[in-house]
Amino acid sequence: DRHCNSLDLSEQIKKVTKESHVRAENTELMLSFQRGKVTLPQYKLLLCSLYEIYQALEEALDRNSNHPNVAPIYFPAELARLRSIEKDLEYFYGQDWREKIVVPAATKRYCHRLRQIGKENPEFLLAHAYTRYLGDLSGGQVLGRIAQKSMGLKNGDGLSFFAFPGVSSPNLFKQLYRSRMNSVELTEEERNGVLEEAVRAFEFNIQVRRCDDLGMTDHKTEIVYTSSLLRMVLGLFVALATVSVGIYAL
Ligand code: HEM
Repeated sequence: DRHCNSLDLSEQIKKVTKESHVRAENTELMLSFQRGKVTLPQYKLLLCSLYEIYQALEEALDRNSNHPNVAPIYFPAELARLRSIEKDLEYFYGQDWREKIVVPAATKRYCHRLRQIGKENPEFLLAHAYTRYLGDLSGGQVLGRIAQKSMGLKNGDGLSFFAFPGVSSPNLFKQLYRSRMNSVELTEEERNGVLEEAVRAFEFNIQVRRCDDLGMTDHKTEIVYTSSLLRMVLGLFVALATVSVGIYAL
């Protein structure tokens, strides 16, 4: 509507995702966070997903850093999370964390979308970067302190993800980020696309936090499949051997 179109992108995006934010705050995982009941396994699983998400997001942002719709919101020095998450994963899983991490199927779908828009619709990265980074700079700050207390972590060990050493005032930085978002010139169609994508970005995050569908099942299915194939081949071999022994005995 006319009133809505007169709003800046930063105001519009907040408005269209308001309802999604309420749902995002009320997932099982976010509620355990807010109650100070987040457990180490829950947090480790979240870090695994965040690793995959930020790898896909930051790769897409890097690839499009000169794109006119991405350049204004490209702040790798202040915002990039990938190295921080790697540090946390190493703290919890040890040096060989790469072989140990577990990725839920919903996270894989989210990352697939991020890679796709990195190639096909770079302006949608606005929506995804907004959803993750402004979230991390807002509620994320409180969640970091709660996580520290809930899990009894010391000296910020395992909590690098929540720390933004390049951002001295999250509130001021958020203001700068919003004004950069608002400086991007989008056609009406592109703007609507970005708003829609922001709702989608929240939805992806809500799905991830409902970590009930571990991607591990793929792996398990594979093992079951391999072992049943092996049993079949072995069975056939034994049957053949029995028959040949039988024939020989004749
Ligand atoms: C326990 C869960 C959460 C809490 C307590 C929380 C809390 C908050 C708070 C207090 C703000 C600042 C609001 C303002 O400045 O007006 C905020 C902003 C924001 N949150 Fe969350 N949040 C949570 C989860 C999430 C999740 C899961 C996401 C999405 C991945 C998210 C994305 C955002 C975004 C994008 C903003 C910026 C809104 C804007 O200024 O345009 N939040 N959150």
